[in-house]
Amino acid sequence: MKKIVVAIDGFSSCGKSTMAKQLAKQVGYIYVDTGAMYRAVGLFGLQNGIITKNNIDEQKLAEKIYNLKIYFKNINGVQHVFLNDVDVESKIRTLETGDAASRVSAVAFVRKALVAQQQKMGENKGVVLDGRDIGTVVFPDAELKIFVTASAEVRAQRRFDELVQKGENPDYEEVLKNITERDYRDTHRVESPLRQASDALLLDNSFLTKEQQYKKILEWFKYKTQ
Ligand code: DC
Repeated sequence: MKKIVVAIDGFSSCGKSTMAKQLAKQVGYIYVDTGAMYRAVGLFGLQNGIITKNNIDEQKLAEKIYNLKIYFKNINGVQHVFLNDVDVESKIRTLETGDAASRVSAVAFVRKALVAQQQKMGENKGVVLDGRDIGTVVFPDAELKIFVTASAEVRAQRRFDELVQKGENPDYEEVLKNITERDYRDTHRVESPLRQASDALLLDNSFLTKEQQYKKILEWFKYKTQ
């Protein structure tokens, strides 16, 4: 079976990472959660006063970005992201860090640095990456490109349920607002805006169960690797 690059792009909170992880595990590929890398940079910015409510100190961030050590490690079967050798997996999953990630992801030099790392991670193929620009910028020649979408309301409800499960006490309207703001920023930024690559397969999972969705992806994967 031929080894390929699988690029999964789409809006936030539409289940990209769940399906990417599941596929990578089943077919024995490496999984790269590129959103986690932007989140790690966002967290670094928040922790070091580089990102504040109304500002990003781009000069300071530019000085630091190439020295940031961001990598993944498997801990008891779960992939965790490390920032400068500290496990930040749970810290990067908050709304605040998601927001900071969305803001730093619009900065050209941040994207340049992370894209280069992602391309290195996938240079030998046999990799599933999920993000916003994988099929358009990181691996424009990926053999299988999937663009995932679902309505903002469905995604907000999923995110809300996730936060409740984590013991947080979210406000649905706030979660929905956060999602629509991120959608707007992700699709309107100048640098690599989120868009469907012309050769990407569209997957709207608003009304699909996880099983139905996974069956579809697996069929596409088998077709592309034959
Ligand atoms: O997928 P996520 O929610 O973990 O991503 C966090 C933020 O990073 C999101 O607002 C968009 C941005 N991002 C990006 O611009 N490019 C990627 N390849 C992955 C994520």
